[in-house]
Amino acid sequence: MPKRTLVTAALPYANGPLHLGHLAGAYLPSDLYVRYKRLTGADILFICGSDEHGVPITLAAEKAGVSPQDIVDRYHAQLKDAFDRMGVSFDYYGRTSSPTHHATSQEFFTKLHEKGVFKRKKDQQLFDAEAGRFLADRYVRGTCPVCANPDAYGDQCEKCGTSLSPAELKNPRSALTGSTPEYRETEHWYLPLGDLQPALEAWLADKTDWKPNVMGQVRSWLQQGLSDRAVTRDLDWGVPVPLPDAPGKVLYVWFDAPIGYISATREWAAAKGLPDAWKPYWQDADTDLLHFIGKDNIVFHCLMFPAMLQAHGNYVLPKNVPANEFLNLEGDKLSTSRNWAVWIHEYLDAFPADWLRYALGATLPETKDSDFSWKDFQNRVNGELADILGNFVFRTLSFTGRFFDGIVPELKDPSEADRAMLARIAQARDAAGAAYEAFRFRDAIAETLDLARAANQYFTQTEPWKTRTSNPQACANTLHVGVQVCAALSVLFDPVLPHTMPALRADLGLGTLPAWGEVAAGLIPAGSKVGAGAVLFPKVDDAAIQAQLDKLHVPTAPVGKPYAERGAEIGIEAFAASDLRVGTILEAERVPKSDRLLRFQVDLGYEKRQILSGVAAFFAPEQMVGKQVVVVANLKPRKMMGLESHGMILFAEDRDGTLHGVETAAEPGSLVK
Ligand code: MF3
Ligand code: ZN
Repeated sequence: MPKRTLVTAALPYANGPLHLGHLAGAYLPSDLYVRYKRLTGADILFICGSDEHGVPITLAAEKAGVSPQDIVDRYHAQLKDAFDRMGVSFDYYGRTSSPTHHATSQEFFTKLHEKGVFKRKKDQQLFDAEAGRFLADRYVRGTCPVCANPDAYGDQCEKCGTSLSPAELKNPRSALTGSTPEYRETEHWYLPLGDLQPALEAWLADKTDWKPNVMGQVRSWLQQGLSDRAVTRDLDWGVPVPLPDAPGKVLYVWFDAPIGYISATREWAAAKGLPDAWKPYWQDADTDLLHFIGKDNIVFHCLMFPAMLQAHGNYVLPKNVPANEFLNLEGDKLSTSRNWAVWIHEYLDAFPADWLRYALGATLPETKDSDFSWKDFQNRVNGELADILGNFVFRTLSFTGRFFDGIVPELKDPSEADRAMLARIAQARDAAGAAYEAFRFRDAIAETLDLARAANQYFTQTEPWKTRTSNPQACANTLHVGVQVCAALSVLFDPVLPHTMPALRADLGLGTLPAWGEVAAGLIPAGSKVGAGAVLFPKVDDAAIQAQLDKLHVPTAPVGKPYAERGAEIGIEAFAASDLRVGTILEAERVPKSDRLLRFQVDLGYEKRQILSGVAAFFAPEQMVGKQVVVVANLKPRKMMGLESHGMILFAEDRDGTLHGVETAAEPGSLVK
């Protein structure tokens, strides 16, 4: 039994709001684990914070036309708020722009530097001459050498998952200016992972309990052989390299971010007024350090950060890294840019946090990718939370209220069924507990729900509504047992449903939260008063589910298709031959019997036109009315479905096949040239 556990959840980049993929990867599993462990009485600390450096941040800032500081301030606050509302119970949520973090990561770097760990190397790196900047990581885009995706990033191809360096991309281009970068010499500090590999392998040798999806990736990295990794960058946003001869250089974000776990623990201690309280969690061999992450972070948490910690020498290394795989949404890969995502702040405007904690917890991508669908969400809320858990609690408490004045009756001469039901409480506790300990949260939830399911069957089979007159003691026993199960569920479900279970415990008069190990028959003594039972989980109707589905952008083709072929060269005359005009859409309607065509009335200023377009799959007619679009006005009239079309409306087609109007504020009739 370790003296203490330190749980970290990956620091999310402060470059956008929290979404479902984040929760499924790192934050829900870690919170379930921590809440369970707290119930067992464990000494456990839960640390997270915003990752505020790196190219993802500066790119977001450039895109939004604001400073990186503006971006991280905005999203740090948003992330913190979303975690809070979801009930993710960090003991401390820090941020890597904090002075403590800058100091901690600089100290860390300095220590490795003084120990002579780094190699200092000059080499050629891509430089954008137009912007006058070196192009690190995601500042370079180009063609993936593995899968030919034309839009791979300088650090990774999102299509095939290969981890890359900018020099490996074919046809590199600058994400800043689009220009073709050139090579220039620069100097950086490298962590010699190749040299550190034997020590890493020795440390990993006894990690036989790691999840196979994690160990599989680690083995494959080791098999390829680790190579030196630069831990500095030529950027102006980040933690400055603490050396006099490194002006204009900052620490690589994957060097400073994991140190953020340490900085945040220090800040937690300082906030408690016990500035040294962080040390045992990081420096005492009796600590179990656990990193909860998504699978794209495995190499950093299983190899790079451990190598840094080993090289430093004063810190514990992770005991386990229970990384999750990816979550898909409605059968398709999550994509924030295509809005194929569920944003947590939007979710919370529609439904309570606990419903998602439950539904997502039951389908976490623990060993392989899994899928979240709104239909499954509805089925789980209605069919499991409401019909099984809620129903059992409601039946038991309302019956006790009605026929026993809410006083828990005495158990006397229990039947076989009564005793079996009571015994199941401890069995469920142990089965769920074992699953939590092994990071099998889906199983933990299933085991807990099974207790409620069995209790429903018990209630039905013992028929208290009949025994009430035929055998009052049997009826009393059913309700006594039922109340005990309710009490047990109110604790065993607490990690999953932390907002709902306290209300149930209040109803049961269970003042102090019993420890996990105390959950057994007898939490509520006979003679106690219980409430009449409220509906814990109202049902979700189809309309509410449809409203969520309607928010998703529906793609028609897989993303990342190559850009359309470039057209053959033409002279200006050929282009000038088209009469392009701005038009306002006055009317739009579906063409009867066609599922493709919409019929538009378009005002070109000098005249009105009827134009047909095959875009019914993309736009609702009412959504088009009032739009100012671009029309090819001198196209020969054509007949479609018996209707004449006088011209053509221009649309832009994404690489995923989605259409967008080409809109302008210019007045109708304006020439587009
Ligand atoms: N920000 C990274 C991501 O979202 C995760 C950083 S985890 C840490 O992928 F260890 F570096 F903090
Ligand atoms: Zn690729």
